[in-house]
Amino acid sequence: MRRTIDWADDAVVIIDQTALPGDFRLLRLRTVDQLVDAIQRLAVRGAPALGAAGALGVALAARQNVDVEAEAGRIANARPTAVNLAWGVERALGKLGQGPEAVLAEALALLDEDEQLNETASRHAAEVVLAECPRRPLRLLSHCNAGRLATVGWGSALGVVWHLHARGLVEEVLVDETRPLLQGARLTAWELAQENVPHRVQPDSAAAAAMARGLVDCVLVGADRIAANGDVANKIGTYGLAIAARHHGVPFVVVAPSSTVDKTLADGTGIAIEERDARELTEYAGVPLTPPGSRVFNPAFDVTPYELVTAVVTEHGRFVP
Ligand code: MRU
Repeated sequence: MRRTIDWADDAVVIIDQTALPGDFRLLRLRTVDQLVDAIQRLAVRGAPALGAAGALGVALAARQNVDVEAEAGRIANARPTAVNLAWGVERALGKLGQGPEAVLAEALALLDEDEQLNETASRHAAEVVLAECPRRPLRLLSHCNAGRLATVGWGSALGVVWHLHARGLVEEVLVDETRPLLQGARLTAWELAQENVPHRVQPDSAAAAAMARGLVDCVLVGADRIAANGDVANKIGTYGLAIAARHHGVPFVVVAPSSTVDKTLADGTGIAIEERDARELTEYAGVPLTPPGSRVFNPAFDVTPYELVTAVVTEHGRFVP
């Protein structure tokens, strides 16, 4: 499969994640406006992929006749929770003094590294899973999409599945559909199908019941921001999964590149949580789901306290708070 996000012919090229699984199509983003819009519509999404989008966005701005610092600020603020976005922007911006080609080279280096670091982090995490879970083959539970589509090309939590599946160690992956935007049902299930990994999609609300029935050996998730004490912000519903996993004695493993760690935050209480449009809940494909006037609580992420996490694994191995 091609990269989720790349650079070609003076444009940022992304796989349009709003169109999957029905349609595999590419979008060419030639302006910062188009990039910011793609980030906010989740056409490109997932913390590591957003880091790449941030860096390539600065490369785009640096080649155009615009105030690059102001445009960089707009990109960094397009979504608030994944720290990787601002990290990618800052990293590319650091080369601005050396000219547009240096900015682009830095962004492309970041893309190459993202693939390598996620491959390494998920290889370490596969060893953690094997050490924590005695049953073979493994039944894994996934939430949201932390696969190739959430990164430049390998995946974090789903990268663990690629490593274990290659060794014949995966019985199945239970895929949380991940309300309301269905990143699990649409994207994770699509990736698993592409790789012929046995999987079943389940409503998010079935996860605790699956654990109670003994169907889950390990929960594997990615992260959008990890505080210095190990608290983890990830897709809404992750916190509930961690509580259920602890109750049932199921290991709960978080996999992320170290660019997801925000050492400026002592703990997860300082993590900004994105609130998304009410229409994600009040309608589906234009059809109303709620009575007119119903108000909505729609946080895109939650924070899981580190005490509920078995291990946070980066390319350096187990993260030490
Ligand atoms: O709103 P999204 O789809 O960008 O949320 C993505 C997630 O929560 C992922 O689990 C996280 O970014 C880790 S991806 C390797």
